[in-house]
Amino acid sequence: LVAGVDTSTQSCKIVVRDADTGALVRSGSAKHPDGTEIHPDRWWDAFHEAARDAGGLDDVAAIAVGGQQHGLVALDAEGRVVREALLWNDTRSAPAAEDLITELGDGDRATGAQRWADATGSVLVASLTITKLRWLRDAEPENAARVAAVALPHDWLSWRIAGYGPADDSPLGPDLGALFTDRSDASGTGYYDAEAPGDDDGITGAYRRDLLRLAFDRDDVALPRILAPSASGGIAHPSVAGADVDGGALLGPGTGDNAGAALGLGMQPGDIAISLGTSGVVSAVAPQRTADGSGAINGFADATGNALMLAVTLNAARVLDAARSVLDAGFDELSDLALAAPAGADGLVLVPYLEGERTPNRPDATGTLHGIRLATSTREHLARAYVEGMLCGLADGLDALRAQDVPVERVLLIGGAAQSPAVQTVATQVFGLPISIPEPGEYVADGAARQAAWVLAAAASPGAQSPAWSAAVATTLEADPRPAVRAQYAAVRDLV
Ligand code: XUL
Repeated sequence: LVAGVDTSTQSCKIVVRDADTGALVRSGSAKHPDGTEIHPDRWWDAFHEAARDAGGLDDVAAIAVGGQQHGLVALDAEGRVVREALLWNDTRSAPAAEDLITELGDGDRATGAQRWADATGSVLVASLTITKLRWLRDAEPENAARVAAVALPHDWLSWRIAGYGPADDSPLGPDLGALFTDRSDASGTGYYDAEAPGDDDGITGAYRRDLLRLAFDRDDVALPRILAPSASGGIAHPSVAGADVDGGALLGPGTGDNAGAALGLGMQPGDIAISLGTSGVVSAVAPQRTADGSGAINGFADATGNALMLAVTLNAARVLDAARSVLDAGFDELSDLALAAPAGADGLVLVPYLEGERTPNRPDATGTLHGIRLATSTREHLARAYVEGMLCGLADGLDALRAQDVPVERVLLIGGAAQSPAVQTVATQVFGLPISIPEPGEYVADGAARQAAWVLAAAASPGAQSPAWSAAVATTLEADPRPAVRAQYAAVRDLV
């Protein structure tokens, strides 16, 4: 058996699967507080609770952790967390991101943006770890001075599972040199170049210490070792997993959540995953990243040695939550209302930047509702405008992927909101592509489990394993392009 873990913004989820067939054997989950900063100990508590809920992990032979990307987990020399982790959705480092772009461009923003994209695959936004380090340097110098190592959420949890941590709270103590991570999550830090010539393991990629120094003025910070996609980072401590397994449970390198989902979904070239979660993510696997100086596309690494090109919006599922709150409607009622209004909602347009936006990079933006007339002042029109606005925001991300020559053939629509009939229908219109909705599943944890099986098999690639490893498609809808809906949205978006 193998276990895959997803330590996400809201909860910890664990799937236990048969290492050979991929069949799901059992699963568990536990919620933890969410928000934009959290003490990592809450992830550790939730991991234990989820493991109990999954019937324990004593019998698993390998385990891998997928997790929310970018969060800054700063550790002191004793292995203690210096302050609450600043998460990907914390925008207080937006000014730091702008400063760093201009500094790398020797005073010119456009030059700096292209240099960041060339060096790391991404133009900086507040989500990326390096901007949080700059913020810490300036806002909390005493905390900055205590930082001895910088980890990400998934690799901090892997380190704890391996038995490391503060001396009074872990069997093996604070060995910062035992931290490890993978290329996908490292590629979201802003101080790693996945395309740099690598060591002799055949895998490209290297830290850009010069960029870290630019942001944080320090050379002496320990960073997790970067493992090849199928390398093992060590053994889970028997108090956590693998107690009944010869030699203990192998620990896989783990992965950022988006790369984990790509692996769990079994994405092929031409597939675009559009995830409607706390963040909206439009992503595709490609042989190599590009360097999009406009900043719309992040050129991350995936979990297999390819690139993961993605655009992230901050306004996805919660736009629908906001609509439900305004309309005092449940999930199904919101869908019925939206489907009762015509495509384009008779000109009622929502630009959904409800808490700022990342793509396009407008951290201080607010939402705009445009085209209110007597005839559009109905619950149905409002519901339609919210659904269309959310999906048009994501369609902008899809266009940005196309502009990078990423092949686009079909959309895999995932996340809880993908179950809404209105979302499905509007997606066929706004994206103008066939839409496939996979069976609901824990794709990130599934991808991590698949990585664990891959590490256990010591194989060169995850291979064409049994279909049980990839989410089955439950529904497929034909494309129904409605360019007018996109056009009226774009006109309002460009006004604000
Ligand atoms: C990706 C990103 C989010 C988080 C969500 O760049 O910021 O998708 O990974 O957990």
